[in-house]
Amino acid sequence: MNLAVELGGTNLRSPLIAASGTVGSVVEFAQVASLRPYGAAVAKSVAPVAWKGRKPPRMAPVGGSMLNSIGIQNPGVDAWLREIVPLLRDLDVDVWASIVGHTVDEFARVAAAIDGVADVKAVEVNLACPNLDHEMFALDAGASAKVIAEVRAVTDKPIGAKLSPNSEDIVRIAAAVQQAGADWVVLTNTVWGFGIDIDTRKPLLSGGIGGYSGTGLKPIALRCVWEVHNALPELAIVGCGGVRSGRDMAEYFMAGASAVQIGSVHFAEPRAGRRILKELEHWMKRNGESSVTDLVGSASPW
Ligand SMILES: Cc1cc2nc3c(=O)[nH]c(=O)nc-3n(C[C@H](O)[C@H](O)[C@H](O)COP(=O)(O)O)c2cc1C
Repeated sequence: MNLAVELGGTNLRSPLIAASGTVGSVVEFAQVASLRPYGAAVAKSVAPVAWKGRKPPRMAPVGGSMLNSIGIQNPGVDAWLREIVPLLRDLDVDVWASIVGHTVDEFARVAAAIDGVADVKAVEVNLACPNLDHEMFALDAGASAKVIAEVRAVTDKPIGAKLSPNSEDIVRIAAAVQQAGADWVVLTNTVWGFGIDIDTRKPLLSGGIGGYSGTGLKPIALRCVWEVHNALPELAIVGCGGVRSGRDMAEYFMAGASAVQIGSVHFAEPRAGRRILKELEHWMKRNGESSVTDLVGSASPW
């Protein structure tokens, strides 16, 4: 059975990736679960300076899914490089950085600071974060392309562009970041959602509207993967949204993803990665599949 995949020029031993913000700095997560099932783990997004994040409540369960408005709390890139990065060497997995900024220049500053760091294997650019000058970067093809081009200019590391399911035309944004130099796209970050606690008559989250993730996100993110793969078959895709089983992974591969991230499932089941990868292997064995690569884009329209 061959679980190794190639993703826009990068080789992964496994097609399963731990999603940013759901495994802390990765270092803490390694204390509760083995990283062996993963091909890579993405660290919490990091900005040029510390971001305090929002006040609680900032996470809430919603059915089998969840809402969050953490506000990308992070220590800033200098503290991250000083305190976390030296610990990555001992982990049994490739770690990717996730970078954020309020302006194009802020993204470039973080990418430049990380460029020389051997223990960071790739840079995931979180375009689904607030833009001080305008709406969220990922909603705007021009702004997204500008960020990726500036990041491309300052780093030789592989670049993944993480997009938003809220964008009106996901294919247009994906094409723009591909042209600007992204090696792959991550589809997707959370979708906007909202809930009210009817006892207190307050929003579930202090920030009001937040990011909806988990099972409810799956058909939405999967639609993004399907649309982008059909329009841009040469562009490598990492699927992300609502995955909680090996069958979910197979579905993402068939829609066109070469690798799959899991996020929210870690909160309920920190060792989910091992189970999910085993389920994928069993499913492949039962269906006579010997290589994940053969599954990619294998679904066809009616
Ligand atoms: C609590 C929480 C924090 C998150 N923080 C980040 C983050 O810092 N950067 C990022 O790119 N995505 C972040 N995400 C989004 C996840 O990486 C992932 O894209 C999303 O949750 C969808 O996957 P899932 O349905 O498997 O959770 C966060 C998600 C959650 C639930």
